[in-house]
Amino acid sequence: MIEEQLLLELTNITKHYGGLAALSNVSFNVARGEVKGLIGPNGAGKTTLLNIISGLTEETSGTVLFDGADITSLPAHRVAGLGIARTYQNIRLFEEMTVEQNLLLGRHTRTRSGMVSSLLLLPRQRREERALRGDADALLQRMDMLDRRDAVAGELAYGDQRRIEIVRALAADPALLLLDEPSAGMNESETEQLGRFILGVRDQGVTILIIEHDMNLISQVCDQVVVLNFGEVISQGTPQQVQGDPLVIEAYLGREEDR
Ligand SMILES: Nc1ncnc2c1ncn2[C@@H]1O[C@H](COP(=O)(O)OP(=O)(O)OP(=O)(O)O)[C@@H](O)[C@H]1O
Ligand SMILES: [Mg+2]
Repeated sequence: MIEEQLLLELTNITKHYGGLAALSNVSFNVARGEVKGLIGPNGAGKTTLLNIISGLTEETSGTVLFDGADITSLPAHRVAGLGIARTYQNIRLFEEMTVEQNLLLGRHTRTRSGMVSSLLLLPRQRREERALRGDADALLQRMDMLDRRDAVAGELAYGDQRRIEIVRALAADPALLLLDEPSAGMNESETEQLGRFILGVRDQGVTILIIEHDMNLISQVCDQVVVLNFGEVISQGTPQQVQGDPLVIEAYLGREEDR
């Protein structure tokens, strides 16, 4: 019974870049419906782990189970098709396209008609297209960004671009959403709004694994947190527990002295 509650199971994930062990035997699970935080100092291996889950980077060893199925060696498009969506540490929007066009492209990773045919608007796709536009509007409304629908993505403020990236990932209707430092570049009130939005997404039934440096956001949204340092899990627990863990405090202070 307990096994059925696990949406993502990472077992002994290891990644070597030449002589550098970016990840060493990283194992943890993400339960269905949970918001799990992934924190750690710069270079700890957080993004590498997200890249491995989403099929962009090949692990040296270890296994990734999603909804009980082994997805370890699947390419990124197959992983996306199974219901894992993500955002990137560096924004990857189509800058010359409007917000709505970006969302429609995000959506088409999960629909039958391809991206090209949808842009050509072949007659039999029109009905689907209208439904998708409605979905995109609803998502924008939920993020309180409907007024940005026709804006050119690259002309939006940085914080707005980050939020649009999350909306685009959600447009693919994922079961698991991977966020890589979503609050980067946002001010305090934008970050708080982002936190409320993330909790709203969770309430809609989406499981979330979030990399974040902002501990207020982590405390606001995460049930459990995993702490990486030099590619190893050094602590796990509630946001409060890990923040009080001497190993975690030392990891952050130690890195600062190195700088
Ligand atoms: N393609 C690559 N080739 C070689 N080394 C890499 C590569 N990608 C990452 N690394 C190294 O792996 C380690 C982990 O990097 P990663 O980007 O996963 O860290 P991070 O925890 O996401 O850091 P940050 O908080 O700065 O984003 C770093 O030492 C990094 O330099
Ligand atoms: Mg990173």
